Amino acid sequence: MTRPRLYSGMQPSADSLQAGNYIGALLQWREMQSSYDAFFSVVDLHAITVPQNPEELREKTRRTAAQYIAAGIEPSKSTLYVQSHVRAHAELAWILSTITGFGEAGRMTQFKDKSQRYGQDSTSVGLFTYPVLMAADILLYQSELVPVGDDQKQHVELTRDLAERFNSRFGTTFTVPTPVIQKDTARIYDLQNPTSKMSKSAESDAGVLWLLDDPAKSAKKIMRAVTDNEGSVRFDRENKPGVSNLLTIYAALTGRQVGSIEDEYAGRGYGDFKKGLAEVVVDEFGPVRERANALLDDPAELDRLLAANAARADEVADATLADVYERVGL
Ligand code: ADP
Ligand code: NA
Repeated sequence: MTRPRLYSGMQPSADSLQAGNYIGALLQWREMQSSYDAFFSVVDLHAITVPQNPEELREKTRRTAAQYIAAGIEPSKSTLYVQSHVRAHAELAWILSTITGFGEAGRMTQFKDKSQRYGQDSTSVGLFTYPVLMAADILLYQSELVPVGDDQKQHVELTRDLAERFNSRFGTTFTVPTPVIQKDTARIYDLQNPTSKMSKSAESDAGVLWLLDDPAKSAKKIMRAVTDNEGSVRFDRENKPGVSNLLTIYAALTGRQVGSIEDEYAGRGYGDFKKGLAEVVVDEFGPVRERANALLDDPAELDRLLAANAARADEVADATLADVYERVGL
């Protein structure tokens, strides 16, 4: 029986992933990898749409791949590879760019946000066509499902439009993918600023829980997390975003219901609750950190794994690309 295809990826934009990447992406991926023929990529071609130091980029890419594996993505079950190792991504992106409307690309809200952050003069054309590369990533593998955060939903919509457009112009070539939008219970916010998403590219990392951080540091960040004056451990996203965020993390990492955690801490202060959460986080991230470090200590083995997986990705991607060339007349 063939499993339906699934594609997802993450940018190697930091030395460590953060708790949101782990809870919002890796835990889901790990869960889905048995039922789907999953392709998980470290999207380094996406990362270079903003300036990168070459040495550091290569290192971040390896570290990101190591964290996928350390978090339980199994390279023998899923295809876990580095995007730039598979040449077809850039080639298909070019072809798809020729059927993408300029206005259509201009409506992508993430580009508007990012280009504002970098300023017009240091905004590259690559940043503008970022969603087209993402469409290529997804379509190359004939992916049926694409797990993404809310902010990527528009890009998957564009991917669907491009797939349908190509199929109607050149004959059925691509599977039209469906986004799997992350649940609210998997969305993690910054510990210091609990109304913005936790992010590995946050300006300050005071509110970011790093997967590979020293456990004592993570515990300290949790103890300092912003809460409120009410003093009761109660989920209320609107009025108690800090406490609600901590409850979300607690529940996601333990598999417990928020209500049962509220009950456990009823009548106790935030100090106790934070201590409990710090233990949960250290227990969960500690082993991941150890496995990641072990993988990074054996670069030859990690490279071998990534090369073998890239070869598997190549096979599928090349078949799609050959079909595309044929149909377009190349
Ligand atoms: P970052 O903002 O850390 O650079 P990315 O944009 O590279 O994260 O996202 C990589 C994956 O991690 C995506 O699937 C995204 O939905 C998920 N993710 C990122 N931040 C969070 C968060 N704060 N909460 C839940 N999921 C997140
Ligand atoms: Na694999």
